[in-house]
Amino acid sequence: MPAVAMSPAAGAHGEMCGMMAIAAALEAKGERAQRKTVLAPESAHGTNPATAAALGFTVKPIPANERGRVDLAALKAALGPDVAAIMLTNPNTCGLFEGEIVEISKAVHAAGAYFYCDGANFNAIVGRVRPGDLGIDCMHINLHKTLSTPHGGGGPGAGPVVLSAALAPYAPYPWIVKDGEKWRVAEDGAKVEGTPLGRLKAFHGQMGMFTRALAYIMSHGADGLKQVAEDAVLNANYVMAALKDVMSPAFEGPCMHEALFDDSFLKDTGVSTLDFAKAMIDEGYHPMTMYFPLVVHGAMLIEPTESVAKEDLDQFIGALRSLTARAKTGTAAEAFKAAPLYAPRRRLDETLAARKPILRWKPSNNPPETDPLKQAAE
Ligand SMILES: Cc1ncc(COP(=O)(O)O)c(C=O)c1O
Repeated sequence: MPAVAMSPAAGAHGEMCGMMAIAAALEAKGERAQRKTVLAPESAHGTNPATAAALGFTVKPIPANERGRVDLAALKAALGPDVAAIMLTNPNTCGLFEGEIVEISKAVHAAGAYFYCDGANFNAIVGRVRPGDLGIDCMHINLHKTLSTPHGGGGPGAGPVVLSAALAPYAPYPWIVKDGEKWRVAEDGAKVEGTPLGRLKAFHGQMGMFTRALAYIMSHGADGLKQVAEDAVLNANYVMAALKDVMSPAFEGPCMHEALFDDSFLKDTGVSTLDFAKAMIDEGYHPMTMYFPLVVHGAMLIEPTESVAKEDLDQFIGALRSLTARAKTGTAAEAFKAAPLYAPRRRLDETLAARKPILRWKPSNNPPETDPLKQAAE
């Protein structure tokens, strides 16, 4: 990809950067007022439609087919002179590869629209597929998952935003420009061959994370990064294969880097996805992503990544199999609802916590809870 922007501060901010470049390109062609629609598959991460809406676009959802992929016929029917772009994640948030991606990009371009690809799941394809070859105009490659930033655990999923030749002229400042034999950093207002969309953030982005990602890339090398993709996909499929007889996979067939289950295996047990996840805390595991993607009922999205050894996966699978067996006895719902028992906090009122956050710790805010072990003994 001919241009790379490193200033966006997070995944959603990277989406904003890409969609602003698309808006600028449309403006330059005199089509901004006419092309107001952004297409987003039903399984899209919430930040995709939110970004489009924040920029004044109208979001049109594209349904998934029974295989969990974009319904190509529905997409083609939605394309028209009002469409500015599609925002697609590949692999998608169901952990499935959009195999018709080249056809999707051709159809989008034929309709005069741009192709934004959310690169948050890049760890399944790193080293194996080049976004430019797929016809992508813009991709935000979150450092999370792929390049050593833990998903949701280590800071924002910032990362480089890569732009195709069609969008490169609108890349935000700062630019690194070659004048003769010398390089210069072009800041706001400086002369460059294009019309940058302005600055997105002070300084040069999440430098600490970029430095860590660079170290990760250099220590792996090109062959190692390819293995990252292979191991992430292998690990997810190992989990899927080891659990599919007791849990309920959301879709048939192999997955990419995420094994997705729905809650039908918990039917009539009185145990919900939330209860199951809370019980995992007592087994010593941070629960998987729950209730996302929204297109899958009671979703449980297990994403082991490349960095977990087989022994650890086996232990994890064992814990989940035993929880599943307990849930299916039909008499364990109350115990599940009481979990977690062995964590410093039990169930939190998450709505209250979000609406009225208590941001300073005071002993009076946090009365010690009854010791659950003592309680259990009583
Ligand atoms: C598919 C996808 N898109 C976008 C984002 C947004 O990234 P951020 O949370 O850094 O804004 C995420 C975050 O998890 C994601 O998984």
